[in-house]
Amino acid sequence: MLEVKSLDAFYGSVQVLHGVSLHVNRGEIVGIVGANAAGKSTLMFTLAGLRTTHTGDIGVDGEPIGHLPAYERTSRGLILVPERRRLFPFMNVLENLEIGAYSPGARAQAKQTIDEVFALLPVLAERRKQVSGSLSGGEQQMLAIGRALMGKPRLLLLDEPTEGLAPIYVKLLFDLIVRLRESGLTVMIVEQNVHHVLRTSDRTYVLENGRVVLEGEGQSLLNDERLKIAYLGL
Ligand SMILES: Nc1ncnc2c1ncn2[C@@H]1O[C@H](COP(=O)(O)OP(=O)(O)OP(=O)(O)O)[C@@H](O)[C@H]1O
Ligand SMILES: [Mg+2]
Repeated sequence: MLEVKSLDAFYGSVQVLHGVSLHVNRGEIVGIVGANAAGKSTLMFTLAGLRTTHTGDIGVDGEPIGHLPAYERTSRGLILVPERRRLFPFMNVLENLEIGAYSPGARAQAKQTIDEVFALLPVLAERRKQVSGSLSGGEQQMLAIGRALMGKPRLLLLDEPTEGLAPIYVKLLFDLIVRLRESGLTVMIVEQNVHHVLRTSDRTYVLENGRVVLEGEGQSLLNDERLKIAYLGL
């Protein structure tokens, strides 16, 4: 579904990603782990068409999309839930959700999608009139995911969705990701919560200093000495 080849990414003249190649098959949960500043968010921004310039290939369903602006990638179902959520704090839950349906295809189905999102995340239905800035951290994360679902994603890019969440919400969130996959979504998830992501993902890539240094099946990576070396720098 997603194929990335020899991706170099830059902020101005500063190169952050170096020859990153990876792929995501339809229906997979693929993890990306790595230390702070490894380039995980940069990878997500570059896939979403935000902030960076790049060389190399990004393909979705066999079609190159690296030249497309962010909104056209969204229309094709590539939707990012950014780090730290980026909600509109003075708008209520419902308004934040409605903003997620901005591509014409998604907008046409918005009414029905809202019902689906409320069924999946009942906490949002209960709080639909509450301004999002007054939601708890966990509720805000659910809203950020709900907003992304409003855009009708096929490939959901999650950047550190468990950051700052209490353990109960971390568990809820990984349960939700599994349910989303069961409903037909493909998920790429950046996490520092290595144990959770390795347990949930089909495959995981380890990024170090902007390079992929390791790739493997979630569970088996847990026992891989190289993970400790790459990730913890031991
Ligand atoms: N807008 C920017 N301009 C210049 N450099 C940037 C910019 N954003 C990020 N960087 C640099 O790119 C490198 C990778 O940052 P990135 O945010 O991708 O890391 P990360 O793996 O997501 O880290 P974290 O786990 O802390 O979120 C860092 O050295 C960072 O300082
Ligand atoms: Mg990051």
